Amino acid sequence: AGCTGSEAPADQGQDAGGSDNVPTYIVGVDSAYPPYAYMEKDGTITGLDVESIQWIAEKKGFKVEIKGMDWDGIIPALQQGKIDMVYSGMTITPERLEKVNFSVPYLTINQSFAVHDDSGLTMDDIMAGKAVIGAQRGTTGAYWVEQNLIEKGIIPKENLKYFDSFPIAVTALNNRQVDATIYDKPPHMNSIQGLPLHIVGEIYTGENYGVAIRKEDNKLLATVNEGLGELMASPTWEELLKKYEML
Ligand code: ARG
Repeated sequence: AGCTGSEAPADQGQDAGGSDNVPTYIVGVDSAYPPYAYMEKDGTITGLDVESIQWIAEKKGFKVEIKGMDWDGIIPALQQGKIDMVYSGMTITPERLEKVNFSVPYLTINQSFAVHDDSGLTMDDIMAGKAVIGAQRGTTGAYWVEQNLIEKGIIPKENLKYFDSFPIAVTALNNRQVDATIYDKPPHMNSIQGLPLHIVGEIYTGENYGVAIRKEDNKLLATVNEGLGELMASPTWEELLKKYEML
């Protein structure tokens, strides 16, 4: 048996007993986050991040259970031991590093704004405070708007609308309940596909994605770092990036 659940801290799993004792780590993802993690029709969660950790698990000899979660509570869930890692396009930030550790970076992204095709809104308009903006709660996109538009008095705080998942924000933009949305560019492009919405501009935040792991789980961190290194050096990495249209 593995070491899933709350009885045994997952990190001890690596030391636990015989060779048939393969530890299972619970991987928390936001399953409404294509192309990194999303749910297929049959309920299976897949995506670039999910396939990456499955590959790493296979290579390093552990099992994973993928658990869909609310984004906003995902770090507390990790701290409380409900999950063993967050592998879900999470930006490495100084604030988060106070609470958890991060793996080596595996992708670098920028923020982007999307608007309605016929709105005529430009980046200059948004920067001048002329748009009501939608963002996913607890994301670096929301923090960017708070720090750069609200705290500087360019928009009142009512003009940033928070959504628990990003697909709901996109629906609000499509229904003109907000004038613009901010999000990491790759999932932003993915989620507006087929809708009369477009990316109007980028903010070059150059954020690095990492896997978040509890501070005390040093062995797991080392294993994931090794696995990420092996994945990124293997041909699989480029195949995955192509498959999920990251190249
Ligand atoms: N990279 C951004 C952040 O860390 C957005 C992540 C959103 N991820 C997700 N799984 N919904 O805040």
